[in-house]
Amino acid sequence: MEKVDYKPAKVDVLLGLQWGDEGKGKVVDVLTPKYDIITRFQGGPNAGHTLEFEGKKFVLRSVPSGIFQEGKINVIGNGVVLDPILFQQETESLIATVPDISKRLHISRKAHLILPTHRMLDAAHEAAKGASKIGTTGKGIGPTYTDKAARNGVRVGDIENSQFIDRYNLAKSKHETTLRALNYPCDTVDMGDLEKEWFKAVEYLKTFTLIDSETFLYDSLLSGKHILAEGAQGTMLDVDFGSYPFVTSSNTTCAGACSGLGIPPSKIGTVYGLFKAYCTRVGSGPFPTELTDATGKMLAERGREFGSVTGRPRRCGWLDLVALQYAIRLNGVSKLIMMKNDVLDTLDIIKVCVGYEINGAPTHSMPYELTDKVKPIYKEFKGWKTDMTQITSEKELPKEFIDYIRFIEENALGGKIEIVSVGPDRKQTINMS
Ligand code: GDP
Ligand code: IMO
Ligand code: MG
Repeated sequence: MEKVDYKPAKVDVLLGLQWGDEGKGKVVDVLTPKYDIITRFQGGPNAGHTLEFEGKKFVLRSVPSGIFQEGKINVIGNGVVLDPILFQQETESLIATVPDISKRLHISRKAHLILPTHRMLDAAHEAAKGASKIGTTGKGIGPTYTDKAARNGVRVGDIENSQFIDRYNLAKSKHETTLRALNYPCDTVDMGDLEKEWFKAVEYLKTFTLIDSETFLYDSLLSGKHILAEGAQGTMLDVDFGSYPFVTSSNTTCAGACSGLGIPPSKIGTVYGLFKAYCTRVGSGPFPTELTDATGKMLAERGREFGSVTGRPRRCGWLDLVALQYAIRLNGVSKLIMMKNDVLDTLDIIKVCVGYEINGAPTHSMPYELTDKVKPIYKEFKGWKTDMTQITSEKELPKEFIDYIRFIEENALGGKIEIVSVGPDRKQTINMS
């Protein structure tokens, strides 16, 4: 047997602390030069991670955000769910920029496949929920993770296996039974065409390097390689700790990086936690600091808050420090990164939620459920009224902005904000001393 002898290399994790769309794609791209391997550990094409550099903009769904930088290996881990059709569309659209994408990108054999019928099930379950629907991205995420847990899933590694078609057909026939029970109009879908496209995309998937990612990453750690794990969604969408049932179907929190990659907890290094200077949420579910007034509209417009996957408008609200502190604790965040600060540049007054009032009683802890009874308690700050988008160093930042972030650090988080972002471009990133 090979001797187990880890070098000190660790896996750093970067994840969202709110309801997703914190700017993870941008920061992974900024941090990529420090790493050898960038890897996704959960979620699937429900994610939309935006990167902007050299006047170009890309939105990644299943591909890790380290893909644009030469000499880096990108890995889709076992915790991810992969739709072959969307994967083919995504990677083909990147070929002009990343011609050797099939060499730079490896895929875990243990990642689960999203079947065409998973997407139908997603739609059928949402329709059946009526007014209490989750507002999913419609990509089949929930049904695919359901099959994984129910031990009915079809995995990427199965496509190399002679039993692949039998496994596919078994899963499909179970799905069809459920779809009929949910009155899904199966007859209106041309299953033949859809399947043809899906199986063609499966052949395309075979042109990528399929790996046992847990072994690959273990060996990489042994040889001292630096690995960055890129989270999708955000902590408040975690299936255990988010605003259940209005969540996604995976563990978006730090522990998800261990199970979604096969990394021992002791090998987790820095945990980067990202949050916006305000909050957004797509889809249904509780949102205590939501603003439905002109300020909310202004945040949506200035922040260009439209879903990168579905184009749906994102709901906007003030920064919620109760939820943020909860997320920081759950993830053991060691470095904080504050995004989209420039979106607040024009405001006279900025509010921050410093506690909740529930049935007249104040609390600073996250309650079991975020019901309508949870009312935010706000502290007000004077706005900085300065265009920060061209600022490149800490010393140029306005005093009111520094006061705002010091308050967040000292009163709510007990941690340090290491990076502030003042625009979507790679360059609009300021390191704090
Ligand atoms: P992700 O899912 O966490 O990667 O985030 P998204 O890409 O879905 O959403 C973040 C959006 O904000 C994208 O359109 C980014 O280009 C943009 N963005 C990222 N950082 C900043 C920033 O500091 N300021 C502004 N104005 N936009 C930003
Ligand atoms: P990134 O990685 C924001 C939301 C959906 C819905 C709920 C469940 O770009 O931050 P799902 O399709 O996962 O079953 O939907 O989760 N959601 C996201 N919201 N950003 C995301 O990803 C999201 N991925 C899923 O809107 O409310
Ligand atoms: Mg996004």
